[in-house]
Amino acid sequence: MKLVEKQWLVDLPSLIAQMESLYGLSALKPFENLSYNYVLSGFQGAQAIALKLGIDKDALQREAAALKAFAGFGVVKILAESNGMLLLERAVSGVSLKSYFPEKDNEAVYITGQCLKRLHQAPIPKNKTFPHIKDWLMALDQDWPIPENYLQKARKLRDGLLQTSAKDVLLHGDLHHDNILHNGDDWLVIDPKGVIGEAAYEVAAFIRNPIPELLAENTVENIIHHRIDLFAKILDVAQQRILDWCFVEAVLSWCWDIEDGLDPNYIRNLSIRLDAIVSN
Ligand SMILES: Nc1ncnc2c1ncn2[C@@H]1O[C@H](COP(=O)(O)OP(=O)(O)O)[C@@H](O)[C@H]1O
Ligand SMILES: [Mg+2]
Repeated sequence: MKLVEKQWLVDLPSLIAQMESLYGLSALKPFENLSYNYVLSGFQGAQAIALKLGIDKDALQREAAALKAFAGFGVVKILAESNGMLLLERAVSGVSLKSYFPEKDNEAVYITGQCLKRLHQAPIPKNKTFPHIKDWLMALDQDWPIPENYLQKARKLRDGLLQTSAKDVLLHGDLHHDNILHNGDDWLVIDPKGVIGEAAYEVAAFIRNPIPELLAENTVENIIHHRIDLFAKILDVAQQRILDWCFVEAVLSWCWDIEDGLDPNYIRNLSIRLDAIVSN
């Protein structure tokens, strides 16, 4: 662990206490399925809230900008924000779409489809600069400890997809099961990255999740095929296009896992499975 990370952890309890008194929060307790950021559930008076704290302050600032851009299009509301902190409306019950896997996968696809169609109606803000997917995808041009044939194939597919893209929309950028939460009798989206690109880019995050449960299924190839078929109908795009994005984005995630020092085992295995499907 880096020194700044250690220091952040040391300071975390006092930061939480500070936020608690500044915003009048109560009953704070961490969510159980945390991965990167530290997120607590609680209340502000009678309002159910989520308090999100992160070491990467720029990332939280980008998330706040994306939440504002998507306001009114199915995302959680921001109640307050400061350096390294977001105070959010909390989804209740807050159960994620992961609870639909694997039994209700078709329904999960339709719910995700509805969420993304709503998100993609948000106008691209003129005053904020969100990255474009082509900026993210430049990472594929670096040297990585990934088999060369995978990198080459991903670059070639990327170039073709970018050259033939449909119109740009503001994308969530990480729309997987754990970022779609049950709220009342509807679903609420959290944790947007905010990136510009065509709508078909957005579905690959759902298709490679939930991690690691998806790859533990015997019928993983059928599940992937079926999801691609449904999303192709929902978005009115060719199945091949979605499949190609799935492969390209899997290799991009592989690069990012390596960059972040994470275990790339899942994404490597998924890339191998997708490669076999793309080649058939
Ligand atoms: N506004 C919210 N309402 C309910 N639960 C939330 C909310 N924000 C976060 N959570 C819970 O905390 C988890 C992690 O939050 P998330 O914003 O996705 O963090 P990360 O950026 O680390 O993925 C979510 O999967 C969800 O279970
Ligand atoms: Mg998340």
